[in-house]
Amino acid sequence: MRADDTPLIRLEAYRPSDWLIDTVDLDIQLEPQATRVRAQLGLRPNPAGRPGAPLVLDGDELALERLLLDGQPVAADLYEATSQALTLHAPPQRAFTLLVETVVDPSANTKLMGLYRSSNVYCTQCEADGFPRITYFLDRPDVMSVYTVRLEARKADAPVLLSNGNLVATGEVANSDRHFAVWHDPHPKPAYLFALVGGALDHLRERYVTADGRAVELAVYVEPGKAGRAGWAMDSLIRCMRWDERVFGRNYDLDVFNVVAVSDFNMGAMENKGLNIFNDKYVLADPQTATDGDYASIESIIAHEYFHNWTGNRITCRDWFQLCLKEGLTVFRDQEFTADERSRPVKRIADVRTLRATQFSEDAGPLAHPVRPRAYKEINNFYTPTVYEKGAELIRMLKTLIGAEAFAAGMELYFARCDGTAATVEDFLACFAESAGRDLTHFAQWYEQAGTPTIVASGRYDAAARSYTLDLAQTTPPTPGQPDKAPMLLPVALGLVGSQGDLPLRTQSEAYAGDGLVILDRTSATVTFTGLDEAPIPSLLRGFSAPARLELDLADAELLRLFTADSDSFNRWQALQSVAMRALVAAGRPGAETSALTARAQDIAEALALFLGRHGTGDPAFAAQVLRLPAPADVAREIGRDVHPDLIFSAHRQLAAIIGRQIGRTLTSLREALTRPGPFSPDAASAGRRALRNEALGLIALAEPAQGAALVQAQFAEADNLTDRLAALAAMTLIPGEAREELIGRFAALYAEEPLVLDKWLMAQALIAEPGTLDRVKALMAHRAFALGNPNRVRALIGGFAANLTQFNRIDGAGYHFIADMVIALDRTNPQVASRLLGSFKSWRMLEPVRKGLAEAALARVAQTPGLSRDVSDIAERALA
Ligand code: TRP
Ligand code: ZN
Repeated sequence: MRADDTPLIRLEAYRPSDWLIDTVDLDIQLEPQATRVRAQLGLRPNPAGRPGAPLVLDGDELALERLLLDGQPVAADLYEATSQALTLHAPPQRAFTLLVETVVDPSANTKLMGLYRSSNVYCTQCEADGFPRITYFLDRPDVMSVYTVRLEARKADAPVLLSNGNLVATGEVANSDRHFAVWHDPHPKPAYLFALVGGALDHLRERYVTADGRAVELAVYVEPGKAGRAGWAMDSLIRCMRWDERVFGRNYDLDVFNVVAVSDFNMGAMENKGLNIFNDKYVLADPQTATDGDYASIESIIAHEYFHNWTGNRITCRDWFQLCLKEGLTVFRDQEFTADERSRPVKRIADVRTLRATQFSEDAGPLAHPVRPRAYKEINNFYTPTVYEKGAELIRMLKTLIGAEAFAAGMELYFARCDGTAATVEDFLACFAESAGRDLTHFAQWYEQAGTPTIVASGRYDAAARSYTLDLAQTTPPTPGQPDKAPMLLPVALGLVGSQGDLPLRTQSEAYAGDGLVILDRTSATVTFTGLDEAPIPSLLRGFSAPARLELDLADAELLRLFTADSDSFNRWQALQSVAMRALVAAGRPGAETSALTARAQDIAEALALFLGRHGTGDPAFAAQVLRLPAPADVAREIGRDVHPDLIFSAHRQLAAIIGRQIGRTLTSLREALTRPGPFSPDAASAGRRALRNEALGLIALAEPAQGAALVQAQFAEADNLTDRLAALAAMTLIPGEAREELIGRFAALYAEEPLVLDKWLMAQALIAEPGTLDRVKALMAHRAFALGNPNRVRALIGGFAANLTQFNRIDGAGYHFIADMVIALDRTNPQVASRLLGSFKSWRMLEPVRKGLAEAALARVAQTPGLSRDVSDIAERALA
């Protein structure tokens, strides 16, 4: 099918399946090149479907080998089998069984969807639509079945055989070198949650007893020899299971829970029932091969996939338009877990950084879409920051809006009422409307309307009346298919900061909901606070209470005052970011004067020196966030149009250098004060100290390259962990010269046998903001550490380059040209990886005219390439529309 002919799938067109599949019995003979799959399907007409409808099973690159209906062969004129579908024109209008036999080649499966081989391990990935690459099926999440899976393989080839649910039998196949395992999953599930694994794997095991008394065998499976790196994942798993019992009252529901790490994986991980399959990057950790960031992402992704067992698996989605029902909610849950395990303020800041960097930029460009899209061509292109991260923000807003108690009651109701069903966003919201006793119609618009709202705020103090009046207004820019926007329901958490801290909030205004919350649900609102003896500074959108942009015209001095005095830690952080952002936005435009930048840099440096002196050693994780300036890409997004990446980049360098020089001494002594003797520990407090030391190192490297290089060498030599070594390497990439190249070489030699570490090494080089980087990246493609067939390698080197603001956006267009070439090449083997890479162009429309023209030409060249996948053509078309 040509891309243009791909039908648009629409939410309004949903209708229940005509057929249901109650049971699936799979018998799978694993062979590297010819795996035989015998599927026995227990079918029946759906009472909610159309009577007399044909049965059309989905296939994808399949070949039918055998077909039996209730044990009998089916006459040739009664069915049709193509690679994409198996149709029974006039199936019996009663329950019947269908035996379908197919043969697939896991070794030739480079798309990494369906059944494939990853480093000699058989594994599967079925979400969103991979199951029809294994057998013909009704592949839609509202068709839920009970699976029994018999796996058979040569013992030497696959000593470990895993599938969903509980293990019910194992044995040897008589007179052969083969063995088998039978797994049964009592919980009906959609096909996208099916999984199997077969291979030679080591494991780490633990026993866990749930709060409601079930004994569960936990295991983490990894490549042979790597079980020593599975401990952190296991530890995280146990902690998140307890947390879900305590906080959401959710217990695990099988006797076995398995996690498997594979080295070739399109995304982060997958929540298959009882058998979570992970990108090994998000499982393997020890101090020598994982950074603090890796430890944190492992913890949160282990939790994310585990939490899906209730929010995703037991309650699944009716259709893929409801993807945010499981993803947004599950991201919210994993964010809360991390907040409880580590630091809540630091987690919030980190999440908002990510939201702005990924989702706000998506929302501002041609790929913008609602949290619940209305139509799609390729569902795999909708696993986006909007569905995941903005989806999580909607849950957070809901909680803010109705309060923690009604939120908890609504969750209880949701678990009780929707358990075992394939649900919709409406089903979900109905539970909260009920628990809170309020109408959520307006709130529900968040799921429908794309774009980031802007809140424009201004306030004035009336000394005579002792009152402060706050005017709030909102607008949402047009997005594709949505030219006119309605006002959203915006929960604006706020405070008024006076000389002695927060002032009491007294107001009769209708928009005030109490507890420091204003609900802005119209185009504008005015709130007047009374009984104020001094002019307050407003602290708005505390805790980032809504995924919106805020325009509030405070003076630098007022922002700097909030930075020290605001009771809300998020807004303390935000205040200093805002001052820095102003400086960078002003200096990053053509013809900008540098004097304003210098003056603001001095102010920021002064504020930082004071802050670090007071709190640097007390809360280093928070201080590290404070010390990290907005990235050049954040500034580009803030400027939003006619963007000159080089100007922004040099403004950023300049600001960092001035600040670094100004507070150099503070940074150096702070680094010393934060050094702790003793062995490495990945806990949040230790990680926070390393984060701040390394943030300081980066600033020093920019401000005083000679001193920075010396510190880098010392740190690299003394480090007993990857976090500090990698931070040294990253700081060194900021300083051109022989010493840098020498360190790059030493790092590679040290980690020659560690692909995941070399990914970081590849990425660090791909991010160097110098014209030589493109050639460097091309040369690295020939390095033994790189492989075009492995998604992690591609994301590190090629994806890293595409994230390099100045070099991807080279003024000669060579960056765009290279990425377009890579997209076209990758599309032939792995369309999902190719289409994600093409997403790097999502902000092309905000560029200045020359780059914009070059980026558009590169996109058009991709779009015009014959034989494109649906994944890539969908992104190319929408990006250009
Ligand atoms: N459901 C997975 C998660 O968020 C996402 C996922 C994993 C996925 N692998 C995929 C989505 C492949 C699409 C394709 O936890
Ligand atoms: Zn998920």
